[in-house]
Amino acid sequence: MKFESEVVHAGDRKRLCSGLPVPVTTPIHLGTSYFYDSAATLDRALGEPQEGFSYARYSSPTNAALEELTTQLERGHGSLATASGMAAIQIAIQAALLDRPHRVVASNAIYGATIGLLDQVFSPFDVETSYVDICDFDLVRRTVEDKKPGCVFIESISNPLVRVGRIADIAELTRRVGAALVVDNTFATPMLMRPLELGANIVVHSATKYLAGHGDVLGGIVVSDEGHLETIRTISRIVGPVLGPFESYLTMRGIKTLALRFERQCANARKLAEHLSSHPCVDRVYYCADPKHPDTAAIHSSFAPGLFGAILSFEIKNAGKSEVLAFMDRLRMVVPGPSLGDVHTLLLYPLIASHRNVSPKMRERMGIRDNLVRVAAGIEAAEDIIADLDQALRG
Ligand SMILES: Cc1ncc(COP(=O)(O)O)c(C=O)c1O
Repeated sequence: MKFESEVVHAGDRKRLCSGLPVPVTTPIHLGTSYFYDSAATLDRALGEPQEGFSYARYSSPTNAALEELTTQLERGHGSLATASGMAAIQIAIQAALLDRPHRVVASNAIYGATIGLLDQVFSPFDVETSYVDICDFDLVRRTVEDKKPGCVFIESISNPLVRVGRIADIAELTRRVGAALVVDNTFATPMLMRPLELGANIVVHSATKYLAGHGDVLGGIVVSDEGHLETIRTISRIVGPVLGPFESYLTMRGIKTLALRFERQCANARKLAEHLSSHPCVDRVYYCADPKHPDTAAIHSSFAPGLFGAILSFEIKNAGKSEVLAFMDRLRMVVPGPSLGDVHTLLLYPLIASHRNVSPKMRERMGIRDNLVRVAAGIEAAEDIIADLDQALRG
């Protein structure tokens, strides 16, 4: 099946009871414990989770359907649906570090809360993290060979400057030192890139973004290779960071239109980037389709043909913080907000949101100027998004 068909069908129509017709679309199963005709069957279900459902912290039918869907989309061995993207990242790193050195090499351009997770949650348990520019492959190689980490953590597309590392080469390097590569694929979605096919061990998503896609679900997904799946499931069965069945249902419903939404979002982002690149009020545009993008080789070797993602950033000419805030106040349709991946176009100002707690010096070193804003294109008409940004830029 093609991706467009997989998103619609994978995971659905699982038979739970013999004799009853199966709903075409997976329903919300709210039950927390399961009844069997014989205690021997219950015994088997409790002992061997693949034999049947027993208790909702271990597994439940709506989550199992979603997990089958995401496993297929990311070409993994199995998935876990979690209560947030951060819960997915926490469990993935924990699984990667089990039986390995408690050292992480991470991209220095990852989501702020992931840095918080490494520096504030893992660090007190003697997990040491080194941050590198993931697009400088020689530096990544030297750092990985020197630190010999248990886990390498990167995002498939960096935020907000949309840089792309050589994932297949990083995966090979990671494998050579015996570490596990964890890739946050939230920005790319499996429609644009499948990190497991490029050699990663574990993929995570904030399902809150493109997968659910409508700004009404907080959720996460971990998709694993064979080697880490049982550890992920064991941790989850004990700790219980699982997604609720209602959110699971909404995420599955959202994924059914992922191909349609993401294709439109990518097309809108491209039109917007082209428009802004010659705009008199714009200094510079950052978008993966730009022929002058510094990572074109990595983009062409790892992205699906014809798609360049739905996120772009741009710098507003002669603007400081107050001018950017005034520009945001003038927006009429584009929503100023801290998320991405929704049906509506969202505009984020890194200075007050994702990079709020990063020092000005560090932001400058990262190339994130005070006049930079990020747009996550929605599915509206491109003309309307462009017209709204134009009128807000004109002032
Ligand atoms: C790239 C990325 N990863 C992970 C997360 C965390 O996801 P959640 O908010 O669902 O916990 C976010 C949230 O913005 C994100 O942008």
